[in-house]
Amino acid sequence: MKTTKFFFPLLLALLASCLGCGQGKRTQYIGIVSAMDVEIELLLKQATIQETKTIGTATFHIGKLKGKDVVISRAGIGKINASSSITSALTHYDVSKVIFTGVAGGVKDEESVLDQVVGTKVVEHDYGYRGNDGFIWCGGDPGLQEPGEFYECDKALVDLAYECSLATLKDQKVFKGTIASGDQFVASSEYVAYLNEQFDAYACEMEGAAIAKVCANYDKPFVILRTLSDKADGVAKESYVDFMDAAGDQSSSILLRMLESL
Ligand code: ADE
Repeated sequence: MKTTKFFFPLLLALLASCLGCGQGKRTQYIGIVSAMDVEIELLLKQATIQETKTIGTATFHIGKLKGKDVVISRAGIGKINASSSITSALTHYDVSKVIFTGVAGGVKDEESVLDQVVGTKVVEHDYGYRGNDGFIWCGGDPGLQEPGEFYECDKALVDLAYECSLATLKDQKVFKGTIASGDQFVASSEYVAYLNEQFDAYACEMEGAAIAKVCANYDKPFVILRTLSDKADGVAKESYVDFMDAAGDQSSSILLRMLESL
């Protein structure tokens, strides 16, 4: 009689807690995204990975980094791969915030290779209207021709990324500003001057705006962290090859510091 009195409430509590595990208590992850393997190499060395999955073209490493639950994804290069990968991450996992880390081309004259850029907003520089008179940066509806869009990075993540960049780097400069994304590797002094004049950009790359647009659609805070591997000029290709490993690691080391505060 006495045993039954204790046994039933205990059984009910156990059952309720098991149901709770299956339903409400999903792990919340910090989403980390990069385009290429070299950009996440350092992170994977320091992480404890429980599972690696491929969804479409993207690889997802799920585990712990600096004590935080993370989904680290290698999206592939370009805006389409980035969109596909971040959509998979946000729909398969409970992601609270997104940090993109990787390399970029510098746009401003005062920047040098291996300087750091923290994106405050992101724009698609190659989205618009091409007529007989050339390219107009604008919305996609040719009838309306509204101005193109900038996507704002999360202010708290921007501030943290900036502080962590300053704390991590000794000899390099740290900039905050607009990042221009497009489906082309920029290696042209003329085009890089256009990116500066048209968008007041600090860096150009090939994924940030896609991550931003999808994160905005899913209402997820995000920030874009980029180390300059080149100056997007006539020698950008050679500079990129020489510096992409160091630049990828540098951006990762700033992200590692950010994780300690998240
Ligand atoms: N990523 C690194 N350098 C780049 C460049 N110059 N253009 C576009 N993406 C880049």
